[in-house]
Amino acid sequence: MSDPQRLVVISNRVAVPKARGAAGAQGGLAGALNAALQARAGIWFGWSGEACEEHSGDIATQTTDGVTTATMDLSKRDVDEYYNGYANSTLWPLFHYRLDLAEYERETGKGYERVNERFAEAAAPLIEPDDIVWVHDYHLIPLGERLRARGLRNRIGFFLHIPWPPTRLFVSLPFHERLVRTMLHYDLLGFQTEEWLSSFLHYCEHELGAQVDEATGSVTLEGRTTLARAYPIGIDWEHFSRLGEEGDARQAQQRLISSTRRRTAMIGVDRLDYSKGLPERLDGISRFFDRYPERVRDLVFVQIAPPSREDVESYQNIRALLEQKAGQINGARSEVDLVPVRYVNRGYSHAELFGFFRASKIGLVTPLRDGMNLVAKEYIAAQDPEDPGVLILSRFAGAAAQMQDAVLVNPHSPDDLAHAIRIALDMPLEERKARYEKLVVSVREDNVQDWTANFLRDLAAG
Ligand code: F6P
Repeated sequence: MSDPQRLVVISNRVAVPKARGAAGAQGGLAGALNAALQARAGIWFGWSGEACEEHSGDIATQTTDGVTTATMDLSKRDVDEYYNGYANSTLWPLFHYRLDLAEYERETGKGYERVNERFAEAAAPLIEPDDIVWVHDYHLIPLGERLRARGLRNRIGFFLHIPWPPTRLFVSLPFHERLVRTMLHYDLLGFQTEEWLSSFLHYCEHELGAQVDEATGSVTLEGRTTLARAYPIGIDWEHFSRLGEEGDARQAQQRLISSTRRRTAMIGVDRLDYSKGLPERLDGISRFFDRYPERVRDLVFVQIAPPSREDVESYQNIRALLEQKAGQINGARSEVDLVPVRYVNRGYSHAELFGFFRASKIGLVTPLRDGMNLVAKEYIAAQDPEDPGVLILSRFAGAAAQMQDAVLVNPHSPDDLAHAIRIALDMPLEERKARYEKLVVSVREDNVQDWTANFLRDLAAG
């Protein structure tokens, strides 16, 4: 058998291995991409995460276990206009259906294009003619077209990790057509769900006048054809399940169990982001306590919410709002020996999260909109099959398409949330097991290794 083609992955952030032992020591997407890169002696290129005074174009490389990571710094102005600006103050809110939060600034749009050009300039010399190239996420939508402009004829694919909005929302983006036309320079476009894929195809057909074949996902415009398909991402089942055997997981589980004693722990774990529906979630919990005051002693809600994108104003606002809402519930409902909401602004290791999930009889995953949401899948993967907890899941998370046996909710409705919490608290073991047994099949089988293999198979097929 001939060697597989070399793989070049390009994304905004790069998981630079510290002292990675065996490949796969990292979990999730980073672990799966590293395993694919290792099998193909590949390169992972992206931003170092550092901001310097002036852009130098210098690239720092490091090779571990056959995988080379290559990173470049960006200038403070680039970070401000490209990352904080266009990517996270324009595209992120718009793609999560938050037109009210989307900012349209000409300068940040120019910064986004400039940084995509910087990525192309730095990455092009690293790419050999036979390499396959896989670009990730909304920070780098125009990168494929920028690489083509430098003469690259390689197979180039792009995967969008977040939703694609309906056409009527998307057209509010100035120069929307220019952005989507750049996408048609990729050979393969991947979306998380059929819903996001269908919104994209609708746009191409109705706004660009492209020829679209929905059955195959082919989009043809001006003689060029791109394939667009759904590839729902999964978790690294093997790796995540093994974490449960670690001491950190067991300790975390015990810590939560002993601190909640006879009460049911209900957990949420989310980056502190307005798309995750955190204020709405607290409103639902508050409604639950209003409706069933006699049950305040039955439930402890633990929300883990590490801060994120702290230089962006909308993220500062959401943080202040959550502190206020958590404080209000606790002020109204606490007793000397009882605090109903534990709101924690820090991150934990994956092993500790495994333990917290296992100790929690309800998992609350209620984003207002989410490309996929892997917390929902991790919560299921961490459950005890003999006594599983209940997943309450937003119907607007991409994961809901595969997780129909969760208790599905409308995260905008406090009544719906309150009702779901009551159902979950009182659910008999038999029903919990029946739901878990169906959910765990897709969590185990539609895993991140298959996701990587399916996308790369279609990309290489060309
Ligand atoms: O969901 C999109 C995404 O890029 C994820 O892949 C990632 O975990 C998250 O956002 C982190 O965002 P940031 O790089 O801005 O911290």
